Amino acid sequence: MASAAAPEPKANMGAPAPRVDGRLKVTGEARYPADTALDNPAFAVLVTSRIAKGRITQLDLDAARAVPGVLDILTHENTGELNSLKFQSAGSATSIQGLGPEIFHDGQIIALVVADTLEAAQEAAFKVQATYAEETPSATFGSPGLTDEDATKVSPVHKHVPHVGDADAALAGADVTIDVDYETPTQHHNPIELFSTTCLWRDGRLTIFEPSQFVYGLRNGVAQRLGIDREKVRVVSHYVGGAFGSKGGMTPRSALIALAARRLNRPVKLVVSRHQGFTTATYRAETRHHIRLGARRDGKLVGYTHEGWEVSSRPDPYVVAGVEDSARLYAYGAVNTKVNLVHADRNTPGFMRSPPVVPYIYAIESAMDELAWKLGMDPIELRRVNDTMTDPIDGKPYSSRSLMTCYDEAARAFGWSRRELRPGSMRDGDWLIGWGCATALYPTHIATATARVRLMANGTVRVQTAAHEIGNGAYTVIGQAAAEALGVPLAGVTVELGDTELPPAPVAGGSRTTASTCSAVMKACDAIRDKLFRAAVAANDGPLAGRNVADLSLAQGRVTAASGGSESIEDTFRRLGSGAIEEYAEFVPKGVKPGSVAALYAGTSAATGGGEGEKTMYAMGAELVEVRVHALTREIRVPRIVGAFAAGHLMNARTTRSQLMGGMIWGISSALHEATEIDRERARYVNTNLADYRVPVNADVAEVEVILVPEEDRDVNPAGVKGLGELANVGTAAAVANAVYHATGTRVRALPIRIEKLLA
Ligand code: MOS
Repeated sequence: MASAAAPEPKANMGAPAPRVDGRLKVTGEARYPADTALDNPAFAVLVTSRIAKGRITQLDLDAARAVPGVLDILTHENTGELNSLKFQSAGSATSIQGLGPEIFHDGQIIALVVADTLEAAQEAAFKVQATYAEETPSATFGSPGLTDEDATKVSPVHKHVPHVGDADAALAGADVTIDVDYETPTQHHNPIELFSTTCLWRDGRLTIFEPSQFVYGLRNGVAQRLGIDREKVRVVSHYVGGAFGSKGGMTPRSALIALAARRLNRPVKLVVSRHQGFTTATYRAETRHHIRLGARRDGKLVGYTHEGWEVSSRPDPYVVAGVEDSARLYAYGAVNTKVNLVHADRNTPGFMRSPPVVPYIYAIESAMDELAWKLGMDPIELRRVNDTMTDPIDGKPYSSRSLMTCYDEAARAFGWSRRELRPGSMRDGDWLIGWGCATALYPTHIATATARVRLMANGTVRVQTAAHEIGNGAYTVIGQAAAEALGVPLAGVTVELGDTELPPAPVAGGSRTTASTCSAVMKACDAIRDKLFRAAVAANDGPLAGRNVADLSLAQGRVTAASGGSESIEDTFRRLGSGAIEEYAEFVPKGVKPGSVAALYAGTSAATGGGEGEKTMYAMGAELVEVRVHALTREIRVPRIVGAFAAGHLMNARTTRSQLMGGMIWGISSALHEATEIDRERARYVNTNLADYRVPVNADVAEVEVILVPEEDRDVNPAGVKGLGELANVGTAAAVANAVYHATGTRVRALPIRIEKLLA
């Protein structure tokens, strides 16, 4: 629960209000789930597999049990009462089996040790002796023993392959074609807050404190694994210290801790180590792409084919299939796409910030740059020639699309008109200068959400909804939505989030929280206003008696008629004979299947958007990057990046700017730094710590300019909001790669672009 303390007297939507929880976070007052104070807790430590494929043949626990303070050791031999879960596209994106004896991936949980102290649990975990029958694992692309599947045959989400006309014929008849391959690596989210689960049973009811992007989903998943009624489970997650998708689905540890706490009849707390987090949660899978583009001499595209390959685990058909988005970028003419799922002996990948678009847009936006160069065209002009207001796959209109306005604004701010076309022609002493661009896009998702809002006679407001504060500014913008709708200062609004005791909100994924939850909050506020206005006009006397409700507005604690006259809400409440009005609202977006509210209570978040509705809905942006590559050492620097973005109505210019800036910084990381390295012999991650997992530091990020392009969209949702949390790290990697090519004439087609790739 965060109490608003913003200094802004006026809290209208879009105002750059500082985060209401900023002070709590920087002073350590914000309670993250692992901070929960417990009476007599026990501490748990995971034991994970040291092989990637095979079976446990023997578990010797004697030495572990002999450690003083050890209370319990859970293994596959004594946890048969936990139900398995099937793979789902949302909720639990990973199928959850037992702790063995089959081993599907390196670092799989094989035991949980619980002790009086963390130290005893750690020592005992170290002394668990597992013996394995080991088989040779398949680690990734190029490893023997992989199996391939057509994603549409197995994926619950990727069913319709974008396809228009005869792409092969179109490419055969094109004036200019390119035919290229790209690669993206494994990445791990590495949120600063580690994964944790703390469980407490009282009177047959379970409370789980766990950082979660979907508390209702987690509640349902744990209840299913334990075989108990979900009403008996409460999940609390008031703050999440970074998630980026990694805390969206349930992982095996949650129910395990619940079981341990029940067996001991004592609270149990687990904080997963950074190293073990790499294999006990999800990650961004490595991908491969084969792209062909064909165009006329003037740059008009005539054909596009895109075949993708994505690594998944042996059991699960996880796939992101970003062709559904890349195919909606330009007027391509004929389109043909295919996505292949490649099963390896790995933990199941999962959503990671902008899951489908990050790898697929890197590939298509690199290919567009290659085509521009082959045509001798400015790369922005190539995009202008192929811009469209009609969905190239379905022929539907876009609800709004401001891509070229974004390019124009970014180009002006960047000084793009001074760019030399030929690679290697811009130089400053020993530094080769390159300017590159790429498009960012993200599908606008809108989900079923509920909220309860109470307005008090003194003008204070309480908002309750089980949405999630994952660093997105949810406490702030949800408070702003209520403050605006009820005409009160933000400082008077209290927002409660992240608890299954509150009305359910959707998973904090797919950049849907602001649009969906604010729509539910606004609907509840509309009902409150309506009650208040009816009371004001129904009065026998008073300044608003007998007026038309449509004539009234609510602002600054007063009900005011456009035709003159007003009264304070205290007076209106007095007429009502009540000190508060409370309304609960259910927001169901157009196009979502019936029953979505009940499904949400049961832990499934239904949404629509992107290419699914009557109109195609995307947020878009243009990113322009300068790189400098040292002529001798090939050191790569990014002195400046300019991004212009259009995402409908912006709830808060300040939090928006932070999101977009953070996204581009992450994009620089994808381009130049980040990759999880894999020992191919053992299918094991190597750099499982924040020292060896490379991310940019301040010295790697110089000027980052964000331009907010105004855009009005009446179709996406009542708030007019397009999600943007995942917009800005799309496109950045391609823009950097394209700039590196422009600087050096070397095209690197496998991320990340490190010095050694430019030395060849
Ligand atoms: Mo985000 S990767 O959709 O949680």
